[in-house]
Amino acid sequence: MNDACHGVERSHTLSNGDFSRLSQFIYDELGIKMPIAKKTMLEARLQKRLRSLGIESFHVYCDYLFSSQGIENEMVQMIDLVTTNKTDFFREPDHFDYLLQNVLPEWVNRHPGKKLVVWSAGCSTGEEPYTLAMVLSQFADSYPGFNYQILATDISTRVLEKAKLAVYDEERVIPVPMTLKKKYLLRSKDKSCQRVRIVPELREKVRFRRLNFMDGDFAMREPIDIIFCRNVIIYFDRPTQEKLLNHFCVHMVPGAYIFMGHSETLSGLDVPLTMVHPTVYRKLK
Ligand SMILES: C[S@@+](CC[C@H](N)C(=O)[O-])C[C@H]1O[C@@H](n2cnc3c(N)ncnc32)[C@H](O)[C@@H]1O
Repeated sequence: MNDACHGVERSHTLSNGDFSRLSQFIYDELGIKMPIAKKTMLEARLQKRLRSLGIESFHVYCDYLFSSQGIENEMVQMIDLVTTNKTDFFREPDHFDYLLQNVLPEWVNRHPGKKLVVWSAGCSTGEEPYTLAMVLSQFADSYPGFNYQILATDISTRVLEKAKLAVYDEERVIPVPMTLKKKYLLRSKDKSCQRVRIVPELREKVRFRRLNFMDGDFAMREPIDIIFCRNVIIYFDRPTQEKLLNHFCVHMVPGAYIFMGHSETLSGLDVPLTMVHPTVYRKLK
């Protein structure tokens, strides 16, 4: 594919017209707002794709992306590039303390023998759902009979592949407390390989699946007791946030909890959720 045969000038910058085609698509399909201030960031991220496809202009790339061939072959890659996937083990750790000290003891008293269903919504490369699995397994040690299942979803196939593999560089697991490291992380026999893997007992507790929050149907198998949707809605505008939170509520049992990121607030949104702790909300009915 070259520029000359498409009758466009070679350009290493994204025109305002092409930017607006892309940003409208990203907003409509992913809910992610992409103001003009993010043009340079988008250019930098897409540059890699242009190089690997051997395309020299953003205009040709956009034409390809929105063609039927591009929609089939390129959209998933483009989505992988535009999402922000920053995450960590034990990110915003007070949430896990609150879970252990307040949410879980009350839950086991109210629901003896029932399986707890937790959803890591926007799970990125898996650090959040595996942190949850460590905390819930640790809790299960002191409450025999307690059982749980974690659903972990993301729109990006690239992060889901990494999450399923469950292999992390040693430096990524620094925030994991030593007792949990010993129990739940496997070291490679090859000492020069500075990597660890989550133990199979935890891996089998987490079911990964691709899910776009903008899709009308989440196709949930069962009602959800606890949602972690942290550092995701920050990329959405207020109407999209309100719609998404109401959609979550449809799948939450009465009394279910939702944990949001520390910089995310639901105040001002018309949603049936009440704040019970900073950035922790509960569906009361
Ligand atoms: C910044 S990460 C947050 C990861 C984790 N929850 C945490 O707090 O560490 C946000 C994730 O949301 C996902 N995401 C963004 N838009 C989405 C959408 N429309 N549907 C599903 N996931 C989406 C991104 O792919 C990304 O992995």
